[in-house]
Order: sequence, then C-alpha cells, then structure tokens
Amino acid sequence: MYPIVKKEKLADKIFLMDVKAPRVADNCLPGQFIIAKIDEVGERIPLTICDYDREAGTITIVFQTVGASTERMSHLAVGDAFMDFVGPLGQPSELCVEENLEETKKKKIVFIAGGVGTAPIYPQVKWLKEHGVETTVIMGSRTKDLLFYVDEMREVATQLCVTTDDGSYGFHGMGTNQLQALVDEGQEFNWCVAIGPMIMMKFVCKLTKELGIPTIVSMNPIMVDGTGMCGACRLVVGDQVKFACVDGPEFDGHLVDFDQAMSRQQQYKTEEGRAMLALQE
Ligand code: FES
Repeated sequence: MYPIVKKEKLADKIFLMDVKAPRVADNCLPGQFIIAKIDEVGERIPLTICDYDREAGTITIVFQTVGASTERMSHLAVGDAFMDFVGPLGQPSELCVEENLEETKKKKIVFIAGGVGTAPIYPQVKWLKEHGVETTVIMGSRTKDLLFYVDEMREVATQLCVTTDDGSYGFHGMGTNQLQALVDEGQEFNWCVAIGPMIMMKFVCKLTKELGIPTIVSMNPIMVDGTGMCGACRLVVGDQVKFACVDGPEFDGHLVDFDQAMSRQQQYKTEEGRAMLALQE
C-alpha cells in the first residue's frame, strides 16, 4: 500500500498529494508519470509526477477532479493509501537529462502551462534552475481562483508571466497571446514546452509553427495498462502511431495529430465509445 502523507487543496477541484512510494521516488525524473489505483474496483489514473523527494521517499501528484475516479480520489485523506502506485512510467523530459545539459544550456526556453499543466512543468523548471539553465514560464488559467504554484514557480523561473483568460490576475489573455506579446517585444525563444489541455497545446503549436519555435508537448490521453500493451493511449505523430505511455508522454507538438487525439478522448467519455474503440484496437 502507498500511504498519503500530505494533502492540500490548491484551487477549486485541484488537489495536491504527497504519496509515500520510495522505489518510484528513487528512480523517477521530471516528465515521467505514475498510474494510481485506489482499490480493487478503482480505475487506473495516470498522473504526471509533479515533484519528488528521494530522501523522504515521496512523490507529489496534482490532479483535478474531472470524473468519478478523481472525485473519489479527492475524498482520500492523509493516512489513507493507494492500493497501486506504479511507476516511474514513460520517458523523462529530454531537457532534464544530464547528458543533454550542454545542448539545453544553449536553448532559449519558454514553457507554456495551462491549468493543471502547471504541475508537470514545475519539476522541469526547478531541475533546470538547479542545473544553471534560464527559463521563461507562461502559466495561465481561466481565472485567478484556479491559479496555483505562482510563488513556487516564481522561485525557479528566470522570467514568470501569469495570464488569466478573464483578466482577473496578471496578463489578460491566453498563453498564446502572452507569447506573441513577448516576441513582439523582441524576446527570442528557440525551444517551447507546452503542457495543458489538448486544445491549448494545439493552439500553442499552431502559433509556434508560425514563429518557427520547435515545441514539445506532453500528451496525457486515456491510459489503461501503461505498458504499451492495450493500445488505449495511441496517438498519431507524423506518419507514425505512438503509445503515449511508453514512447511519451512528450512528443514533437508540430507532428501530433491533435484532432485525432481529441476525438478519441471524446469517444472514451461514453460507454459505447469505449466499447467501440476497444473493437478497433
Ligand atoms: Fe495501454 Fe499505453 S496505456 S498502451
């Protein structure tokens, strides 16, 4: 069992938990994810690792309640435990690998985080700061009440821009508007990492393609086994079929077929859709 040692409500429907999982904490790197299962009957929930403490043996996860399983998870308290907490899964972020550090230091990196996408971006920016790499972070949400980690991110980002769609905090607009404004000011970027809702990543990629900025996105589609066997998380990237759980979760955003990924996600929301997709696997 994997006990919850800390729980915090970060914003409306957004929760943080520290879970004791020493083996995962020992081996994980930014960009990887875990699959949590509450009990025998619970669904498998894939979540990107948001932070880790190797000494304490804990993993930090941040999640938003979007369905029955995450709603159940939000009712767990400190002292409760997950039955399964499998990981680290997937590939670490290319930017946060020691061997790539010299190359990474040459990059002018902008991160764009939307909604809970802030959570997986935080450990990457923190790792980069610890290794002497400068970053710009644009983090946005619909409204001020849904923002979290602003102070934490300010500690690790070289430049932080906060945006809200309704203008209730920071820049009034979306992450793409803020990026365009920075570029118009004369700031230069040659690497972008975008993590957030698929629709947001799609529009970031549209803009960065026009601006000629290579862009990495983190895809978090429906996952079932997390081992490349079930096909649930498959995506079309360029002319290839990839599995987000083993080949990703990070991919070249300019090659991802977002429309196909979003339509699969929509279909998965219904029982019939799930049955239909299972037949196609
Ligand atoms: Fe089954 Fe990726 S979750 S193949």
